Amino acid sequence: MEETWNMNLQNRMASDVATMRWIGGTDGYLQMIDQTLLPMEFREIECRDVETVWEAIKKLRVRGAPAIGIAAAYGVVIALQTGTGNERPDFDQRLTEAATYLAESRPTAVNLFWALDRLQNLAASLPVLSNTDMHTRLLEEAKRIEQEDLEMCHKIGEVGAELLSKGDGVLTHCNAGGLATSGGGTALSVFFEAARQGKEIRVYADETRPLLQGARLTTWELMQRSIPVTLITDSMAGWVMQEQKIQAVVTGADRIAANGDSANKIGTYSVALLARLHEIPFYIAAPSSTFDLSLASGSQIPIEERLPEEITNGFGKQTAPVGVDVYNPAFDVTPAKYISGIITERGLIQPVTTAEVARVLTTDGY
Ligand code: MRU
Repeated sequence: MEETWNMNLQNRMASDVATMRWIGGTDGYLQMIDQTLLPMEFREIECRDVETVWEAIKKLRVRGAPAIGIAAAYGVVIALQTGTGNERPDFDQRLTEAATYLAESRPTAVNLFWALDRLQNLAASLPVLSNTDMHTRLLEEAKRIEQEDLEMCHKIGEVGAELLSKGDGVLTHCNAGGLATSGGGTALSVFFEAARQGKEIRVYADETRPLLQGARLTTWELMQRSIPVTLITDSMAGWVMQEQKIQAVVTGADRIAANGDSANKIGTYSVALLARLHEIPFYIAAPSSTFDLSLASGSQIPIEERLPEEITNGFGKQTAPVGVDVYNPAFDVTPAKYISGIITERGLIQPVTTAEVARVLTTDGY
């Protein structure tokens, strides 16, 4: 029985899988895959109030920097379905409350704050509309954020695929795939495009302790697209590099400072150091919505700390003594000097310097 279910899951076409979708008009709801259940179970949940959206982001039912930005934008639309009254000040107050509330769900991925700011800035620029019209405009903006993300993923794939050669082994960490975005992902978009071009790559996926986004999600996505993937534990990365199985590393990012320092899932920094020691290029793939140019360097990026139970009792199994002291930062920061290039929808940032980040991000007509 279980086998049949898993087989159906494997056979599901990637195009069938949308991380989330908005159903209906302004009075609609957000449907999303509960990523905490994958790959054992494919279940979609319905978010019909802002608290459910907040909880989904906090608990990683929806996760990955671009995806949580999109979910938060729809969360605002849901919040504005109730308690806005007829007067514009009521609407504005409810909008501020919703954005403030959703901003407290997770601190590191800047896409969350970027999306919330976009909605608030739009509202501030539309002073004379009725509350109904305002609500419609905010839903349109949330949909635009989702659509733009899809297009950025596609572009990132094209820019990044150029960096890979036929037969390359590529290592990735965490999940920067379709599940984490509204498109094909960031790092995974690069792999999808390289495979489409016939480059016959093999992806090595770090399992990504403690929540196993690599083992549960990245392998699942790649297998659906029939891209060769090999799962390894995080601690095997150095050895696999020494065995010359890896020709490039590509990961996503949650927030990139003005100088290119990049926060991503805990363990990314170690992978970058290993890549440098083995003279393997280490790339970050991320859309412009993941850059936080207000921060001069990565030391200013807030790092989320999560519950000790994720390490001591992961997936319902106790693996450490009760009461043990635990430190559980969810992200680390890779200094720009270890990053060979940042793959964006606007082109490749290389070398990774403050000047080059500014130049590529402000290039028009890409
Ligand atoms: O804690 P998560 O699963 O949300 O962490 C996700 C990552 O670290 C991803 O690599 C990053 O958000 C990029 S997703 C395109």
